[in-house]
Amino acid sequence: MKLLVTGGAGFIGANFVIYWLNKYPKDEIINLDALTYAGNLENLKSVEENKNHKFVKGDILDSELVDKLVKEVDLIVHFAAESHVDRSILEPAAFLKTNILGTQVLLGAAVKYKKRFHHISTDEVFGSLDLDEVIRFNEKTCYDPHSPYSASKASSDHLVRAYADTYGLEITISNCSNNYGPFQFPEKLFPLFITNLIEGKKVPVYGDGKNIRDWLYVEDHCEAIDVIVKKGKIGETYCVGGEEEKNNMTITKTILKKMGKGDDSIEYVKDRPGHDLRYAIDISRIKDELGWEPKISFEEGVDNTIAWYKENELWWKNIKSGEYKDYYEDQYEKR
Ligand code: NAD
Ligand code: TYD
Repeated sequence: MKLLVTGGAGFIGANFVIYWLNKYPKDEIINLDALTYAGNLENLKSVEENKNHKFVKGDILDSELVDKLVKEVDLIVHFAAESHVDRSILEPAAFLKTNILGTQVLLGAAVKYKKRFHHISTDEVFGSLDLDEVIRFNEKTCYDPHSPYSASKASSDHLVRAYADTYGLEITISNCSNNYGPFQFPEKLFPLFITNLIEGKKVPVYGDGKNIRDWLYVEDHCEAIDVIVKKGKIGETYCVGGEEEKNNMTITKTILKKMGKGDDSIEYVKDRPGHDLRYAIDISRIKDELGWEPKISFEEGVDNTIAWYKENELWWKNIKSGEYKDYYEDQYEKR
């Protein structure tokens, strides 16, 4: 099988490319990535020499390039996106361009060449649950996105379904909860906190730290996508999660403890505007229909993640001290 993976130099995309080539060594992957601030060829070092991996630097908005690449493959797995909520609050335009218009360009080519399309989405499209609610998001939950990021992802999900209904495109969608693990750009909670602590800095907790997320180790997400692509029902959506609901304070204290630091390393900073309170995913469907469930426990996942950032200091130090270093300076207002 030949795949077009978009965004395969980013966090989840790179993990997926490595996972897939290990598991299916005869398959070929074309990896289309624009190498934005979040894309990094260092993430793909282990597959650099692999003849079945072809990296193409390019934008998913480039319809001519997309047309040429889609024509060559059997399946498109679409990760490419602007992915950070805080950046979407500061500069939403890039999110609308890549996440909505970029998806539309890919869909157009997939329809033209009748190619199977798997769309990677997020649980953030469902909005926010109350902290004390017992319900969780599932495939029937109505969309209610709150941030420019989640609104752009919701929009792309609707487009994917519209292309299935209107043009008969063979699609599947996965809405996944928060991922953590190797290669995550050090702007997100886990990598930012771990690398700050290695550097002897404090960790910025937004608001009161009570917001809850459902955490999934990235390799488990890759396996879920594999299962959906191979066994999922065409036209359907699958919710993917770790069944590991934790509030940000619990995450923070877990990381602090594992890294031998105390509460004096916490800095409470001004809350994110429109900060969703709780995300939680009911994974019954993918579990019952496709037999997938997470394999890596939260403890193991956190240990692996901390170990990876300790072993790969150069990877994140280059990022934190490089072109985007301003991002790490003076961005937080103390509460
Ligand atoms: P990321 O920001 O680490 O990587 C995104 C990749 O897309 C980068 O390599 C970037 O260069 C590339 N890209 C951006 N704009 C592009 C464009 N116009 N053309 C081509 N490439 C472009 O993101 P991630 O965390 O790996 O997320 C991947 C996907 O998974 C996204 O669609 C995101 O919405 C979804 N998702 C992420 C999470 C999470 O916790 N990180 C959870 C659920 C779903
Ligand atoms: P993040 O990793 O940005 O993922 P998302 O917003 O997509 O869920 O943030 C996870 C949670 O951690 C979220 O509730 C915001 C919070 N957070 C902080 O408290 N401090 C930080 O510096 C960051 C990046 C996030």
